[in-house]
Amino acid sequence: MRVGIDAVAVAVPESYLELADLARARSVPEAKYLEGLGVQRMSIAGPHEDPVALAANAARRLFATSGAEASRIGLCVVGTETGVDHSKPIAAFLHRLLGLPQRCRVYETKHACFGGTAGVLTAVDWIASGSARGKSALVVCTDIARYELGSAGEPTQGAGGVALLLSESPRLLELEPGASGSFSRDVDDFWRPLHRKEALVDGQLSVQCYLDALAGAYAAFREVAPGAQLSRRCYHVPYGKMARKAHRHVLALEGRSEAEADASFAQEVAPSLRLPAQVGNIYTGSLWLSLASLLEAEAATLEGQRIGLFSYGSGCAAEFFAGTVARGAGAFARSLRLSEPLERRRRLTVTEYEAIRRGDADADARPAESGRYGSVAYLGTRDDKRQYQAAVAR
Ligand code: HMG
Repeated sequence: MRVGIDAVAVAVPESYLELADLARARSVPEAKYLEGLGVQRMSIAGPHEDPVALAANAARRLFATSGAEASRIGLCVVGTETGVDHSKPIAAFLHRLLGLPQRCRVYETKHACFGGTAGVLTAVDWIASGSARGKSALVVCTDIARYELGSAGEPTQGAGGVALLLSESPRLLELEPGASGSFSRDVDDFWRPLHRKEALVDGQLSVQCYLDALAGAYAAFREVAPGAQLSRRCYHVPYGKMARKAHRHVLALEGRSEAEADASFAQEVAPSLRLPAQVGNIYTGSLWLSLASLLEAEAATLEGQRIGLFSYGSGCAAEFFAGTVARGAGAFARSLRLSEPLERRRRLTVTEYEAIRRGDADADARPAESGRYGSVAYLGTRDDKRQYQAAVAR
């Protein structure tokens, strides 16, 4: 049986911050962010753009652009590390906002940035095992990455949702159940205690943990897929430079030099970094945004070719696996207009960005107000229950 990614869609907040503006405000050389970290802009979620709204907007766009029907979904998994409730999963909110059928399994997964990939791999096994009985799975990755203002992590924030449809007739990427390498261990590289909105991180340790996990997962992948030729590689992208470090590291494991890795980077990795450089780290969605970026740029030329995928979640869990670009994926990926949501964004000043961040503190207890938004929006709470405005036609 074939199984894999049938369609994908992206949702981003309506505003973004130029990293050059942030560098000036923090008295840091612009080149450190733009070249040293490899980031240009980061999406900033406004008061009405919580993780539920971002997830719902990504999934609605998925249905609208791919022609998929909510009534055909039998499993809906939301991967997030920005949960909005200790008990109620974002998937339950989506069930209503998307009109999913009652005969549908819905839940949320968490393992830092790995949570979305955990959902994808579970969905693949669910379909491959026959449990899906012809139904499709919806996996939505949604996150808002926040670090303390002025901290080293601040330029590596971002926000967004990526919705993925998995089925037994994948129009984009055929995945290979079981042909995957896992790596896990308990480390304190990045974490977010229950009382905090902003993550805490040991930055340099987190980079090393990422690279160690990549080495472990890649070795495990090579044991199950020794001869697999990879024409492109998509990595988890907390910032673009990390993908460059990852590529050098993994090619060194293949016995190739740093110069060879740098020479192949432009062809094998750079096309997958275009969207992440405009959006920032979206945690669970990061690998999938990099895949969307690659498919938008090159799906037509990659049909029939295998690409490698690496997902890393701090704490940590990682997986290296591969997929083959489907025949016809070029034309289909073009029809999905994957980067269109980025074209409508508004540039914030640093003062506006800082005001939004100050408002985050009370967002989960804000009394609900009425609103008329063109996409799904978070309105605040009533009796401690979160309220949403479904999209209003404009
Ligand atoms: P830092 O201390 O600000 O930066 O932290 P640095 O001093 O390491 O410099 C960064 C790079 O800029 C260096 O390049 C400098 O040389 C260069 P590198 O040596 O790495 O190649 N640089 C310049 N380049 C040009 N012109 C200049 C200049 N100055 C310096 N003038 C750090 C950087 C990434 C650690 C920080 O931003 C951070 O803590 N970020 C958050 C953590 C993170 O993203 N970690 C990545 C791995 S862990 C992960 O991916 C999981 C995660 O997504 C969470 C999850 O799983 O949920 C984070």
